[in-house]
Amino acid sequence: MRQRHRTLRLLGSLLLVAAAGVSATGAVPAGPGPTAIPLDRVVPAPASVAPGGSPYRITDGTRIRVDDSREVRRVGEYLAGILRPSTGYRLPVTTHGGGIRLRLAEGAFGAEGYRLDSDRRGVVITAARPAGLFHGVQTLRQLLPAAVEKDSVQPGPWLVAGGTIKDTPRYGWRGAMLDVSRHFFSVDEVKRYVDQLALYKFNKLHLHLSDDQGWRIAIDSWPRLATYGGSTQVGGGPGGYYTKDDYREIVRHAASRHLEVVPEIDIPGHTNAALASYAELNCDGVAPPLYTGTEVGFSSLCVGKDLTYDFVEDVIRELAALTPGRYLHIGGDEAHSTPHADYVKFMDRVQPVVAEYGKTVIGWHQLTGASPAKGALAQYWGLDGTSAQEKEQVAAAARAGTGLILSPADRIYLDMKYDESTPLGLSWAGYVEVRRSYDWDPGDYLAGVPESAVRGVEAPLWSETLRTSEDIEYMAFPRVAGVAELGWSPAVTHDWDAYKVRLAAQAERWEALGISFYRSPQVPWL
Ligand code: ACM
Repeated sequence: MRQRHRTLRLLGSLLLVAAAGVSATGAVPAGPGPTAIPLDRVVPAPASVAPGGSPYRITDGTRIRVDDSREVRRVGEYLAGILRPSTGYRLPVTTHGGGIRLRLAEGAFGAEGYRLDSDRRGVVITAARPAGLFHGVQTLRQLLPAAVEKDSVQPGPWLVAGGTIKDTPRYGWRGAMLDVSRHFFSVDEVKRYVDQLALYKFNKLHLHLSDDQGWRIAIDSWPRLATYGGSTQVGGGPGGYYTKDDYREIVRHAASRHLEVVPEIDIPGHTNAALASYAELNCDGVAPPLYTGTEVGFSSLCVGKDLTYDFVEDVIRELAALTPGRYLHIGGDEAHSTPHADYVKFMDRVQPVVAEYGKTVIGWHQLTGASPAKGALAQYWGLDGTSAQEKEQVAAAARAGTGLILSPADRIYLDMKYDESTPLGLSWAGYVEVRRSYDWDPGDYLAGVPESAVRGVEAPLWSETLRTSEDIEYMAFPRVAGVAELGWSPAVTHDWDAYKVRLAAQAERWEALGISFYRSPQVPWL
């Protein structure tokens, strides 16, 4: 392990030297582009880059050659869908000929890694699995001029610089969470965010589907959850909910971008929308009114009632049936209105139900205050100021086998304001500028946690103040790119001064894609 780290570190220094040779200023050259793969362009930083040789030029004669397999062809069609509008070329996806080739092969790629070889004759992306090809395609996108992202024909030329990239992720969990409860977001708005996450090799989309302000997923056995519990949102707007077909459409779209959807039903707290929808779920049998404020911690399912568990099982059964992925998130945070003994009892009874329907439990890290089920993951959302006792509770669970997803609020809660002038967002975890968000190491973030317990990172985006895709993007970009890098890139590539240059190079791509973003003064935008 130590030896391997030394080798990687040496490689990291060589890469930096090579990068300086390509572009001392960090500026992306104008004109036809670099001939060797630039090291100041790709986010997340690949595991290794060997620039060299001559570039490949995409022309009207280029074909996208794929293996004769449905999944590989699908990645080829996705790539063609990006390249055709801006190049104006036909770019047929075929099983013969050449130009850009996507191929599956045995090799040390892992489930998501890939190798990209580019020279005068063509570009070859090789991976063991279609997900690896898909991630390789994201790298290829970033090697092309940003104008390739536009939806009208651009002048080109379309050069892919020469060299070899070998790349594999540091962590298997690279997530983004969207809160669709505090404000509802349409299927199209969610799909738009998914497409943006794919560009940075995220592989999990966590949807926070229920909270005090709204229940957002149709449950056939309890229909008022959605029709009544989903009928408003923060500030009292119309809210909304996903029909099962809507939800399947989100899952299908995310899968086409190699993201797994992780649904969250937050219980036993954060449940006012459910309690308002069904009086009988309340201990006193009286339904509270719908809630459109932003307080937390005031609602709880009635832990002593058997009906509560019928309700929970119905919801878990229907949600599991909609979920091809492995995980089901049961929330468990801020259950301030649930006595601790009740919380433990509730979690002891609910976690086996998740397993019964074939899914693995995820909970916010308060779950570690109960007894996490075998195989469960805990999502840590504390901050520097979180008590040592609470951190140790999480670390002890990790040592006992609970995997951790890291979402420290004062680092990667994307709804935190950048500074005091940020018009959107909250600041209870402080202001989080771009550097603070990037400059930490998931591998040694929590004391006493074995490195193997850290499954990865996830960037939550809570929506108390967010209503539109533009709002989502302004809070997510640029910080979400840094989260991608923390999740994907080897620790030895971690370097703010190098990262900020690669980050700056993303801006013209975001502009081409119509992504709204925050022009942080910490980043040397071009
Ligand atoms: C949380 O922010 N309450 C998970």
